[in-house]
Amino acid sequence: LPKLPVPPLRDTLTKYLDSIRATVTDKQYEKTQEIVKEFGSPGGLGEFLQKKLLEHAEMQDNWVYQFWLDDMYMKVRLALPINSNPGMVFPKQNFNDQNEQLRYAARFISGILDYKVIIDSHLLPIDRARSREKGQPLCMEQYYRLFTSYRYPGVGKDCLVTSQAQQQVHENEHIIVVYRGQLFALDVVCNSIRLSDDNIYSQLKRCVRMAQEEIDNHLRNYGNKPLPVGIMTSASRDVWAAVRRTMAENPTNQSYMAEIESCMFVVCLDDKSDVSMANQMIHGLGSQFNSVNRWFEKTMQFIIAEDGACGLCYEHSAAEGIAVVQLIEHLLAYMFLQRRKLTRMQSMCDLVPPRHLKWEISNDVMEKIKIAANELDRFLSINNLDLYVLRYEGYGKEFPKSQNMSPDAYIQIALQLAHYKIHQKLVSTYESASIRRYREGRVDNIRACSVEALRWCEAMVHGDKIDAGTKISLLRNAVKKQTDIMVQAILGYGIDNHMLGLRQIAEDTNIPTPKIFADVTYKQSNHFALSTSQVVPTTMDAFMCYGPVVPDGYGACYNPHTSSILVCLSSFRESSTTDSRTFAMALAQTFDEMKQLCLAASSSVTSSSSLVSAANQK
Ligand code: COA
Repeated sequence: LPKLPVPPLRDTLTKYLDSIRATVTDKQYEKTQEIVKEFGSPGGLGEFLQKKLLEHAEMQDNWVYQFWLDDMYMKVRLALPINSNPGMVFPKQNFNDQNEQLRYAARFISGILDYKVIIDSHLLPIDRARSREKGQPLCMEQYYRLFTSYRYPGVGKDCLVTSQAQQQVHENEHIIVVYRGQLFALDVVCNSIRLSDDNIYSQLKRCVRMAQEEIDNHLRNYGNKPLPVGIMTSASRDVWAAVRRTMAENPTNQSYMAEIESCMFVVCLDDKSDVSMANQMIHGLGSQFNSVNRWFEKTMQFIIAEDGACGLCYEHSAAEGIAVVQLIEHLLAYMFLQRRKLTRMQSMCDLVPPRHLKWEISNDVMEKIKIAANELDRFLSINNLDLYVLRYEGYGKEFPKSQNMSPDAYIQIALQLAHYKIHQKLVSTYESASIRRYREGRVDNIRACSVEALRWCEAMVHGDKIDAGTKISLLRNAVKKQTDIMVQAILGYGIDNHMLGLRQIAEDTNIPTPKIFADVTYKQSNHFALSTSQVVPTTMDAFMCYGPVVPDGYGACYNPHTSSILVCLSSFRESSTTDSRTFAMALAQTFDEMKQLCLAASSSVTSSSSLVSAANQK
C-alpha cells in the first residue's frame, strides 16, 4: 500500500481556518487568523515543523500512526468504560435456563474460532474501497490485531502490544471466561485440535460450577463475596497502572495476568439484568451487576447473558469498528448455520480443567478494588449515561442516493441541523474517516460544522420567508461541502492528523507550544461536542454504541440501512444542556423535513419542466 501523504502546509492552514469559521465569533476568528498567518509565513515556524514532519515521514511506514495512537488512546487517562470502549448489541436470544445460555456460548466461541482459522491462515479477502477511487485495496492490519493485542496500563501513558508470535498458528490457545467476577483460563485449542461445541459447553459448565463454589466458600468463611479484580480495569488508567504494578510483584498474580494478556478473547457469562442491552455492553451496569464480569483492557470481550442479551465491549485502540463488524457478521452467519466443523469429540477426562485465577490480594489492593467499584457505581448510580436508540423508518440510504447526494454527508448535515434546532449553534464535530487506503492507515476526522452547514441550518430554523428553492440549494451546498471534506479526509488530506503531526513534532523537538496550538480556538476545535461515526453491520438487530467524548456533548453512531437509519445517541445526564431523546426526536423530524424539501424541490422542477414541454408541443 502507498504511504500516507503529508498534506501541503498552506492547504491545511486554509482548511483549518475554514473549519472553525462556523463555531467561533468574528473577533476570535480574526485573532486566530493572525496567529495562523504568522505560523504559516515564509520561513516561519510552520515551515520549519513541516520540514521536520516530512523528514519524520520519510523514516516511518505511516508518519501519523504513533502520534495518533498516543493522542487518541494511550495518553488518555480516563477510565475505559463509557469514555473509550464502544459496546455492540447483537440480536437478543431466548434462553430458558443456564444450560441454554452455555450451549449458545459454546457455539459462539466455536464461531469465533472459525473466524480465527481464516485470520491465522491469512485467508481474509482484502477489503477494497467501495467508492472514491473504487477498488483500491485497504490496509488489513487491524483484523490481525483483534485477537493478539492487549492494552497495558501505564502511569502517564498506556502501551498497546500486539504479539507477533501470537499471529502465528499455535498448538494451544486459550480464552478467558468470566462468571460472577471469577476468571478462568480455558484451553480451546489443544494440540492444534479445536474443542467441539460439546466439550466447550462442558468446560463452561465447569467454570460456572467452580466459580459458584468459590463464591459460596467465601461467603461461608468471610461473610462476603470475593472481590472482583476485573473491576480494577474500569478505573482511571493511572490508578489501575499503579495497582497492577503492585499486584504483579506477586508471581502468582503475575502469571494470571500473563494468562489474561495472552488470551485470544474474553467471554463474559453475565447474569440477567432488566435494563437496556446497550448499557450492559458499554459498562455492565455497576459492581452489583455485570461490571464485575469484565476485563476492560482486553481487545475483544464477548458478552452472553442468562436473559439472552448478547454483544461485545471492545477496547478501541487496536482496531476500528469496521474490522469488528466483519468478525461479527461472520460470527452471526456461523451461528445461523450452526455449523460444527473442524472439531473432534474428546472425552471429558482428556480435557485440561479450566485454570481458576485465584488472585492473592493484599489489604491495600483490596481497598483499591473497593474504591474502583465505588467510583464506577457512583458514576452509574445517577444513571449518567443517557442512551437513546433511534430507529428511523421513514427511509434509508437509498433516498439521498436517489437525490444524487452521498448518504453519509446527508446524515451528517441532518445531525448538524438537529443540533442547531436544540442548541441554536453548531459545535466542533468529529466523524471517523477511514484512511485504510494507506499503509497502517487508521482514521482522520471529517469535520461537519462548515459555514455552508450553518447557512442551511439558519435558513431552516429562522427562514420562514425563505422559499423551498433557496433552502434546497443551501442543503445541496452543505452536502456538497461535506462530501468534499469527506473525500479529502479519506484520501489522506484531512487536517486533524496533519495538525497533530506538526504539534507533536514541536513537542518532540522541545519547542515551546506554538501559538497556533495554545490558541483557545484550537482547543475549542478539539472539544468534540458531537462525536459521530458510521458503523454498518448488515444484521438489522445488531448495532454499535458509545458514550460522548466530552461532558457536554453527544455521541452518535449510525448505520444507514437501505430503507431505514439507525442512530444510537448518547449524552451525560450530569450535563444540563444535553438530552439524547430530545436530540433523537429533533433528528427524526429533520430527516422528515429534508425528504419533504427534496421532494418539493423535485416536484417544482418536474412541474416547471412539464410546462416547458407543454409549451414546446404547442
Ligand atoms: N449520488 C448517489 N449515490 C451516491 C452519491 C451520490 N452523490 N454519493 C455516494 N453515493 C453512494 C455510494 O456509491 C455508496 O453506494 P453503495 O451503497 O452502493 O456502496 C453509498 O452511496 C454510500 O456512500 P457514502 O454515503 O458517500 O459513504 P461511504 O459508504 O463511502 O462512507 C465514510 C463514507 C466516511 C463513512 C467511509 O469512507 C469511512 O471512512 N468509513 C469508516 C468509518 C469508521 O471508521 N467507522 C468506525 C469508527 S470506530
